[in-house]
Amino acid sequence: MLIAGNWKMYKGPAETAEFCEALRDSDVDDVDVVVCPPYVSLATAVQLLAGTEIGVAAQNVHWEEAGAYTGEISARMLRELGVYGTIVGHSERRQYFGETDETTAKRARAALDAGLFVIACVGETEQEREGGETEAVLRRQVTALGAADENLVVAYEPVWAIGTGKTATPELAQEAHALIKSLLDVPVLYGGSVKPDNAAELLAQPDVDGALVGGASLEIESFTEICRAATPS
Ligand code: PGA
Repeated sequence: MLIAGNWKMYKGPAETAEFCEALRDSDVDDVDVVVCPPYVSLATAVQLLAGTEIGVAAQNVHWEEAGAYTGEISARMLRELGVYGTIVGHSERRQYFGETDETTAKRARAALDAGLFVIACVGETEQEREGGETEAVLRRQVTALGAADENLVVAYEPVWAIGTGKTATPELAQEAHALIKSLLDVPVLYGGSVKPDNAAELLAQPDVDGALVGGASLEIESFTEICRAATPS
């Protein structure tokens, strides 16, 4: 079980320090926990969580090692900071910043080659689901990622469930996860309005291997509660 907190564009270094200190002092163990702060807060998180089992990952990465790519960060730079992994292909990147299946795959491969752990996001929009295209969309997005890798996990995040309070039912999540695993043999996290009160039933599905949590990962109470819901009893 892996619980990853995607902080999006929240928490600068000061708030990151406060959160990481609280997380370090919390009782989350027996479950893999990763936090994904904004770039400027990564160093603080790495420093404060050093010596714990809690991983620190970025929210994106470029595929080149270095070059004239204003505003981008390379996998080598993340490694230099002591960052352990990265998210790629988040739907907000796809929706607002022109990320495609192709660029997502390039980012994922470069990160894997550099030894980073990768959480690659896929998921259909509301329109695609209503149009009966969910399976085709997931097939396209997952296939584009290429081969499985021991450092690769996929996050199934139906776009209509992200930040909306609408969660996929456990059955619907299970169905999508099973499809994804039939295409790529990797663990699959669920994301989209995961909260303390719905985490347990989602995580109980056989093919749900953890969660990628946005909003509820920003408060220490709700995040640790979700981590506890993932702890084997
Ligand atoms: P949410 O975000 O939990 O706020 O819906 C999930 C995500 O975007 O990863």
